[in-house]
Amino acid sequence: MASNEKKLRKQAEKGIWKSYFRLMFKAKLPWGWIIFVSALYILSATVTLLFPDFSSKVMTGVLKPYIIWGTVGLIIADVIMSGLVRFFNKLLVAKIDVSYRSLIWERVIKSPLRFFDSMKPTTMITRITTDASKISTVLGSYLPSLAATVYGTVGVVAVVFSYNWRLGLSVVVYIPLYLLFNAYYGKWNFRAFKETYNRLSILTQFLSERLMSVPLIKTFVTEKKEDELGHKSLQYYFKANMRRYIIMWVENPINGILSITSDILVILYGGYLVKAGYIQLNDWVAFFMYIGMLWGMLGSYLMMYVEIKKSQGATDRIAALMDGDLEVNEGKVGIEKLDKDILFKDVAFSYGDKPVLGHVDLTIPVGKVTALVGPSGSGKSTIFSLLQRFYEPDAGEIFVGDTSISDIHLKDWRNLFAGVAQDSPMLSGTIRENILYGVNWKVSEFELAEAARKANALDFINGFKDGFDTYVGEAGSNLSGGQRQRIAIARAILRNSDILLLDEATASLDSQSEKAIQDAMEQLMRGRTTIMISHDLSNVHHADQIIVLSGGTVDGAGTHEELLKTNELYRHLVQLHTGSSAS
Ligand SMILES: Nc1ncnc2c1ncn2[C@@H]1O[C@H](COP(=O)(O)OP(=O)(O)OP(=O)(O)O)[C@@H](O)[C@H]1O
Ligand SMILES: [Mg+2]
Repeated sequence: MASNEKKLRKQAEKGIWKSYFRLMFKAKLPWGWIIFVSALYILSATVTLLFPDFSSKVMTGVLKPYIIWGTVGLIIADVIMSGLVRFFNKLLVAKIDVSYRSLIWERVIKSPLRFFDSMKPTTMITRITTDASKISTVLGSYLPSLAATVYGTVGVVAVVFSYNWRLGLSVVVYIPLYLLFNAYYGKWNFRAFKETYNRLSILTQFLSERLMSVPLIKTFVTEKKEDELGHKSLQYYFKANMRRYIIMWVENPINGILSITSDILVILYGGYLVKAGYIQLNDWVAFFMYIGMLWGMLGSYLMMYVEIKKSQGATDRIAALMDGDLEVNEGKVGIEKLDKDILFKDVAFSYGDKPVLGHVDLTIPVGKVTALVGPSGSGKSTIFSLLQRFYEPDAGEIFVGDTSISDIHLKDWRNLFAGVAQDSPMLSGTIRENILYGVNWKVSEFELAEAARKANALDFINGFKDGFDTYVGEAGSNLSGGQRQRIAIARAILRNSDILLLDEATASLDSQSEKAIQDAMEQLMRGRTTIMISHDLSNVHHADQIIVLSGGTVDGAGTHEELLKTNELYRHLVQLHTGSSAS
């Protein structure tokens, strides 16, 4: 049983290493720079290796000019080399950072919508920022220094043995002891690190969520409770950190004892060897310095091990991100214009394991207005998502004429649509940038103003001091819901697409603006394939076809008059509406 667990853990470990290397090659690392910095490290290690040999002679009174100048030269070279290594190392880390972040960002933005349903934005931000920088720091600092450290260790051991093999051997036996202790210590340290990391991500998630819901907290007067919750979360993080500090502190005395006993050995045994004439005084001094270097190098193996271990969690998370499917752009068929009806044939769909649509058959006639009505949650917006191929149906297919839309080039297909939703997304920037978002042809000032005027937005835009150059705030937060909606309408007017998707497009407007926009919309809809969702049934009377959805299936379809006669649910919805607007 236990061995089975161990086997599984070993396999998982292997998998982590695999993804580590796979990611390294996917990220297009700056290999030229890595090799260059590695070479710098090796040069720097050579200078360091030569130093004790020269300086020990100076210290013990061997004052030949080449020894003195050699020592001075090595001191200067060491300063210059370590400066260069530090500089180019930082540069390399930054370069690797960019390659990893670009790789992740490209991947994320090209992922299908399904991917975003299961991944919180805060999580994704952590992947792109913290996780990526963890990997790049480790790869950038330790990968190039690894070769130099191995070279240095072998060099030190060789030099030490060349001075006196007995003394060398007495020190080298410490190495396995040191490595054994530190392998265990490294695991312990890593566990403590993981705990703080988890606590920190819980804390971050707590803070970001609460900060986004400040109005909710104020409305329900829960400041005191939230204050306590925040305090608790902070305390957990603090305690985990304390544990980690204690573990980090323990390393010092234990490794200290190991290195002190080896120093004492070198002093006592070496002193005896000098006295007995087995080795020279300057060799003994050099020996002492080399042993100090050896401990330093062993220490950096430990550090590498711990840091690589720490970064493997990040690698694992990023690798999981990279394994998902991408949106496929390559359809066989191009399309420039919608000139045939759109047909849903026995379409079924679920979000995860939650079925939302089942056996949906419907026809959306080209150039006509189709309205989708039905209770909240009946799947209306989901039909819009399927139409735009944000998701693929689980069963059945959507056709344009005889062509399945999954065979059409995705970019061409999406270019056919313009949409206005109740909650129209905005990006920080100016009103102009938001209206022109995704428009890739030259738009004159006049056309821009015309689109805004038709959307009944020109008056309020001109009311702002900066007009079209008014900054809309993060996600459009400086604008009201109705203003955002009218900007979205102006955007749709400019885009001039074949298919218009209106999801509660006028829901945030007062009746006066709504009337003005309704007129503009009617103009916009003319000759275009329009599909509209509206809870306000007075908006849909004029539609060429009304489709009634209920619980993910089509309950009926026809004109207003036909449905009034034949469809129970539609009659009920109309009654509800007239009842509520009468009261
Ligand atoms: N991203 C999603 N992940 C999981 N479930 C979802 C997701 N989006 C919608 N749903 C669920 O799918 C069902 C249909 O949702 P949809 O948004 O299509 O309804 P709707 O008819 O547009 O409703 P409303 O009139 O309230 O806008 C609902 O039960 C909803 O909870
Ligand atoms: Mg909806």
